[in-house]
Amino acid sequence: MSILIRGGTVVTSETTFRSDIYCEDGVIKAIGENLEAPSGAEIVDAGGQYVMPGGIDPHTHMQLPFMGTVATEDFYTGTAAALAGGTTQIIDFVIPDPEEPLMDAYHKWRGWAEKSVSDYSFHVAVTWWDETVSRDMGILTKQEGVNSFKHFMAYKNAIMVSDEMMMASFHRCRELGAMATVHAENGEMVYYLQQEMLKNGITGPEGHPQSRPPEVEGEAANRAIRTAQVLQTPLYIVHVSCKESLEAVTRARLEGQRVFGEVLAGHLLIDDSVYYNEDFEYAAAHVMSPPFRPKDHQRELWRGLQSGNLQTTATDHCCFCAPQKAAGRDDFTKIPNGTSGVEDRMAVLWHHGVNQGKLTLNEFVKVTSTNAAQIFNIHPRKGSISVGADADIVVWDPEMTRTISAKTHHQNIDFNIFEGMEVKGSPSHTISQGKVVYKDGQLNVVKGAGRYIKRPTFNTHFDALKIRRELTKPKSVKRPPMAAE
Ligand code: URP
Ligand code: ZN
Ligand code: ZN
Ligand code: ZN
Repeated sequence: MSILIRGGTVVTSETTFRSDIYCEDGVIKAIGENLEAPSGAEIVDAGGQYVMPGGIDPHTHMQLPFMGTVATEDFYTGTAAALAGGTTQIIDFVIPDPEEPLMDAYHKWRGWAEKSVSDYSFHVAVTWWDETVSRDMGILTKQEGVNSFKHFMAYKNAIMVSDEMMMASFHRCRELGAMATVHAENGEMVYYLQQEMLKNGITGPEGHPQSRPPEVEGEAANRAIRTAQVLQTPLYIVHVSCKESLEAVTRARLEGQRVFGEVLAGHLLIDDSVYYNEDFEYAAAHVMSPPFRPKDHQRELWRGLQSGNLQTTATDHCCFCAPQKAAGRDDFTKIPNGTSGVEDRMAVLWHHGVNQGKLTLNEFVKVTSTNAAQIFNIHPRKGSISVGADADIVVWDPEMTRTISAKTHHQNIDFNIFEGMEVKGSPSHTISQGKVVYKDGQLNVVKGAGRYIKRPTFNTHFDALKIRRELTKPKSVKRPPMAAE
């Protein structure tokens, strides 16, 4: 099985150059000009196109059981849709119920994911705490290739963690060399505001953003950041959606703290007016947490990406269709939270980022692939075009123009938050494990071909933190003994 990608312009996170790429047995074997194809090799003509590392979406929820239902997009349809959009790896989440052993939940999710068509990994959520959770975190990192743990600071009476649990878990993350991550919204404030809304007769989807204002996110982001600072461990904040949490991330980074921020394609482009639409189905389809924000936040999020204070882009792909969203017809707090995007992220980022002069080609590669690979410690195997790397590659046609629509997308959901958006620039070919799995609009995928990718612990940030910790460790003062009477 071999492929020669010929005549394209290779774009990595660092450089841009004209080159052919030869892939064999699922890995990149040679990069250079005028490479010869061995007989039988498939030739991919990349003339006039960019050849980039396949996208990594570090935040998806395929077939998530959530809020009394299960997300419609499963690992088969979801990873296929990802490949159609140029994303060759997802990092999904194992989310144990409170009291559910982490290893049980982990094996359940591994089973569900076996039908994946692209490579995948898992973050594991810490939703409760005792000695067995701490022990299982050790097993997951040492034996199962999990190197990140998620903490929901929202969803009170469900999966929300207390500060005490978060501290215990952050401490354990540091010991294990695993990245602590948080969904930053103050769940107590959200709960209070939700009750206020309902009391005041605000039962529709407009109650969703009004009960989760940016301050709620800013407070939680700041609390998580300060907690990580005190515990001297790196922190990754998922779906930074507003100025308030971006400011917290930015300030921490300026202080030298190892804090990373993720932004969702949806938060960069959609504003909160969607929730005030008179059509319930339309408004409910946009219910996700954190909610879409007033327009001025989007400008700040783009600036965050441009400045490097936000490092990754994701989607939080979590699909619920209209009949599922209808569960919250009379009470917005019962609308299952989640929207789609895994197929659209790359094109939307390209169109609104690169085509608008907000992102360079190399920055595009960084924020769609390389940075996630580095933070979650699978670089250079993933997120790079280099000899020995996995042949997960997207051939990108900057001239292709199309209109995003639920009628034509591959995602298993009846709605698309980017409906009607015309984008210029899309994948002509997606290559996964050295095979062309998407070409000229056609998917050619094999159920189960996706592999579980183990991720080693102790990324480079832990080395630096260890030195800092040694240099700043608590000290005591030696005093002479009390003089005898
Ligand atoms: O609304 C969302 N984001 N649903 C999925 C769960 C989460 O908060 O990530
Ligand atoms: Zn310890
Ligand atoms: Zn979340
Ligand atoms: Zn999520």
